[in-house]
Amino acid sequence: MKFSIVLITGNENKYREIKILLSKFKIEIEKLDLDIPEIQSNEIEEIISDFIKKAYEEVRKPVIAEDSGLFIRKLNGFPGPYTSYVYKTLGNEGVIKLMRDIEDRYAEFKCALAYKDDKYEKVFIGISKGKISNEIRGKGWGFDPIFIPEEASLTFGEMNVEEKNNYSHRGRAINLFIEWFRKTYMID
Ligand code: IMP
Repeated sequence: MKFSIVLITGNENKYREIKILLSKFKIEIEKLDLDIPEIQSNEIEEIISDFIKKAYEEVRKPVIAEDSGLFIRKLNGFPGPYTSYVYKTLGNEGVIKLMRDIEDRYAEFKCALAYKDDKYEKVFIGISKGKISNEIRGKGWGFDPIFIPEEASLTFGEMNVEEKNNYSHRGRAINLFIEWFRKTYMID
């Protein structure tokens, strides 16, 4: 039996990263862009928990959705839940400028991934520890070209999707989800 899950997102990059991991198992994924407003909160877990309930109400099929953020230590966790807004306004150049005289470049990407069906509602957290690079390197999307995960020397922007998934917040959250899902629904 093949399981089918609807990923609620308008972000093609997130879809590609999630699909490649799920497709190794009998889990089919379909992308749906729904216009559901996100609540304002400093906690991405809270944002996604509210979002997944509303998404399930609309779709009435197993759904997943995720919210991610970049948390820079020296900037007290900024931009965190405002990452999307900061990307649109400052972009990679703006963040590099903001960090120009800062020696401690530690940052974390965090992903809160929520799943809901008629029986279960769960949130999985994936974290990628790393640092902000000194310059823009590679392509990728969002802050990919300025984030170097701690176990690598390349930015996410210099990696292909599979390599990025090995280190990324999203890859880690999805793998936790897959582990739970396969155990719960006993699939190979
Ligand atoms: P959201 O989860 O769609 O709210 O994403 C917030 C923002 O974080 C995005 O607009 C991107 O700028 C950034 N972001 C989240 N995940 C990633 C990633 O894997 N690579 C690069 N940027 C990311």
